[in-house]
Amino acid sequence: MRVGILGSGDVARSLAGGFLKHGHDVTLGTRTPAKLAEWAAKHPKAHVADFADAAKFGELVVLAVKGAAALDVLRMAGAANLAGKTVIDVTNPIADAPPVNGVLKFYTSLDESQMERLQREFGSARFVKAFNSVGNAFMVNPQFKGGRPTMFICGNDEASKRPVLAILEQFGWEVSDMGKAEAARAIEPLCMLWCIPGFLRNEWAHAFKLLT
Ligand SMILES: NC(=O)c1ccc[n+]([C@@H]2O[C@H](COP(=O)([O-])OP(=O)(O)OC[C@H]3O[C@@H](n4cnc5c(N)ncnc54)[C@H](OP(=O)(O)O)[C@@H]3O)[C@@H](O)[C@H]2O)c1
Repeated sequence: MRVGILGSGDVARSLAGGFLKHGHDVTLGTRTPAKLAEWAAKHPKAHVADFADAAKFGELVVLAVKGAAALDVLRMAGAANLAGKTVIDVTNPIADAPPVNGVLKFYTSLDESQMERLQREFGSARFVKAFNSVGNAFMVNPQFKGGRPTMFICGNDEASKRPVLAILEQFGWEVSDMGKAEAARAIEPLCMLWCIPGFLRNEWAHAFKLLT
């Protein structure tokens, strides 16, 4: 599959490594391709481009940028380059404020998530929330004593979840589909929960699992 990843940070690079490992073609998108020169030299099969060309390249698009910049980045990517495509939304709406007793501050509310905002402005893209509730070091084939962890996903378009499900299974996850975009109101704050042991006790090696 051709995957266009919007982003150049830790998440974009970790997921790019996973897609390459599993035989997909990858283009990373950034405002400053030069900053990825070293990474690109180590990953000769990957391409680096601007946001628009990365989105155009992808049959599947991954949004992995700073939460507050997500709408701007999607505008730079161009609605036409996103139309009809599954966009995996990894972003978290973390505010520019320090955590309080280990709890991050979000700029969204429990009545409106980041992904709903993105979906509202880019109506022809098919957003699926995924990968936001775990640190980037564990996104690809994580190894935990407790077995496969669970990735919670949601999105309005059922067909667009199929490739996400396939990728998550390749990347070693169990998937729990929480339904439509509104479920991002619950899935995004899992990032806050995931980070608390890190901020309080410097424990960053865990993931969620849904037991039934
Ligand atoms: N770090 C993790 O382990 C983790 C885990 C789960 C979810 N997330 C979420 O995943 C997303 C990416 O996280 P990250 O840690 O990899 O990197 P990040 O530092 O949150 O974001 C870096 C990316 O954001 C873009 N960006 C920043 N400010 C911008 C602006 N004003 N205009 C346009 N683009 C801007 C950068 O674009 P350029 O390339 O052009 O500089 C870069 O690609 C975030 O939303 C984060 O909350 C992170």
